[in-house]
Amino acid sequence: MHITSERPEDAAAIRALTEAAFRDMPHSSQTEARIIDALRAAGALTLSLVAIEEGVIVGHAAFSPVQIAGALGDWYGLGPVSVRPDRQRSGIGQALIREGLRRLKSAMAAGCVVLGAPAYYGRFGFEADPDLHYGAAPPVYFQRIILEGSPPKGEVRFHPAFDASSD
Ligand SMILES: CC(C)(COP(=O)(O)OP(=O)(O)OC[C@H]1O[C@@H](n2cnc3c(N)ncnc32)[C@H](O)[C@@H]1OP(=O)(O)O)[C@@H](O)C(=O)NCCC(=O)NCCS
Repeated sequence: MHITSERPEDAAAIRALTEAAFRDMPHSSQTEARIIDALRAAGALTLSLVAIEEGVIVGHAAFSPVQIAGALGDWYGLGPVSVRPDRQRSGIGQALIREGLRRLKSAMAAGCVVLGAPAYYGRFGFEADPDLHYGAAPPVYFQRIILEGSPPKGEVRFHPAFDASSD
């Protein structure tokens, strides 16, 4: 398995993979694949990493810019992240996320936020911060990792692609 940036011809495979990964997830809005397409169309897919096994895409992670009023430096949001159902729990998701964070750090990003299970994202260093909010999301599920500088405070706004894709 190796991890690399998406190529233009990977878009359809990423869409299919994302739909398959989220199909049976109770927390899913089933809009994740459309969000990725909308981010790409808006030029806001900062990182779109694919995990490839024997020439086939088995995992994907997206990172896009987020806005935090008053934050210094560039902040990003992680997600959606998808691993093909029959290949889950074999380290692919972790490898994608670690590589994404490594690339953000090399690009001098200030940090990254994620909405998801603390038991999963805590292992990368993500943690909830009572001073950082995302809409009505339960505070323990909204987490951030600082790559450079001090903790930002306030409300986080994801790219509009995350809203526009809900209808
Ligand atoms: C979540 C997902 C990306 C993780 O990728 P993965 O390759 O399956 O996971 P990894 O092999 O990297 O990690 C496996 C570990 O994560 C844990 N894990 C996986 N999903 C978890 C979750 N939702 N909550 C808590 N722990 C989770 C496993 O128990 C395992 O723990 P262990 O290492 O202590 O045994 C993948 O399972 C997936 O595509 N799920 C469906 C879509 C989804 O929910 N995406 C994330 C939404 S924010």
